[in-house]
Amino acid sequence: MIRLLPLALLGLTATASHAREQITFATSAPSSPFSSCPPIRPPPVQRLRDPTAAVTQFWDAAPTYGPVDSWTIHGLWLDFCSSGFPQNCDPTRAYHNISEILEAGGGHETLKFIETYWKDYSGHDSQLWTHEWQKHGTCMKTLEPSCYGSSYQPQEEVVDFFEKTVELFKQLPTYDWLTEAGIVPSRTATYSLAQLQDVAKARFGHEIFWGCQRGWLNEAWYYYQVRGPVQNGQFTPAPATGRSSCPSDNIRWLPKTDPKDPPAPRPTGAPSGKIFIDVLPSSTGGAPNGALISTGKWMRNVTPAGFTSIRDSDGRGFSLQTSKGACAITSAGSFLCQGGQKATTFFADSERNIMYRGKSDFYAVEIPSGPKQVTITTGKSAQKVKLRLSE
Ligand SMILES: *[C@@H]1O[C@H](CO)[C@@H](O)[C@H](O)[C@H]1NC(C)=O
Repeated sequence: MIRLLPLALLGLTATASHAREQITFATSAPSSPFSSCPPIRPPPVQRLRDPTAAVTQFWDAAPTYGPVDSWTIHGLWLDFCSSGFPQNCDPTRAYHNISEILEAGGGHETLKFIETYWKDYSGHDSQLWTHEWQKHGTCMKTLEPSCYGSSYQPQEEVVDFFEKTVELFKQLPTYDWLTEAGIVPSRTATYSLAQLQDVAKARFGHEIFWGCQRGWLNEAWYYYQVRGPVQNGQFTPAPATGRSSCPSDNIRWLPKTDPKDPPAPRPTGAPSGKIFIDVLPSSTGGAPNGALISTGKWMRNVTPAGFTSIRDSDGRGFSLQTSKGACAITSAGSFLCQGGQKATTFFADSERNIMYRGKSDFYAVEIPSGPKQVTITTGKSAQKVKLRLSE
């Protein structure tokens, strides 16, 4: 039975060879704004003498994966600067026990590191590790067991692959480089591709591939020319082999939200001015999962709508307004923002959740998927949610 698994995986991953490099067999994977790849291998603009490697990183903000102040590892790939690149080269070495291999092979520290910094966007980290090893690691010639000679220990090349990837990733602190240049995650600020490339040139020495989904920054690919073996050869920074998928302007870098963060203390209960409203379903642990759009409906994978909050004269309650009109609880108990209705007065609890008639629990029939817009209600329904004010 076990023998069959790698082959089954191969078939599946081949159909989605660039689908954001993710695990296509993870049936419970939530859809993410970043679930499909940037327009994949960009066409080469030049031919380099030595093979090129790419060290690739993710920024997973919606939903959030990995530390709020760091990008995470996507992988280490070989790139031949032609239209193709090798993948899935040796099904007999498509191991599913990466953690055990690292523990047994002296890679304990590396395992601890990747548990934090090599994150799958559907939460299946070890499947992403297997996938990356199988797809890219098994294609690296110098990681073939025959290259190790008579002293070869089973699976030691797997340890080398993960150690090398971590070593290279640690030299590329994208988050620090960007923020030190004044480019910070924000729900409102926008940046130009030229600004991002200026940082890449100053810190890495070359332009890199910046990947965007719908104008949201979510990938960074750094290229190297490699001389010698992957294990200990020379990795020299090189220019990206293709054009970034980000637009030249209006790029957003969304903040990651940390569900463990204590709520910010609020001197006044009611917000005032421009705010956003995150939706936190209790069924998925109460972390933000989508936001309200201008009609007051709930969507995932969208840029949250801006709400204008107007404080009551006594400063405790507030009403909400969007481009569609005033927000109110309708006679049917739905939270909707539209023209021709009188704004409802809401309150905020100590965690900045919207309260209506003394309660901060709202409901929805389901968690929205894909382009679906789901109505928030006060009447009980399948999904209990909080509506959290955020800046
Ligand atoms: C990992 O899996 C492979 C293939 O199933 C097996 O040969 C090897 O002994 C396993 N390694 C560890 C450390 O469990």
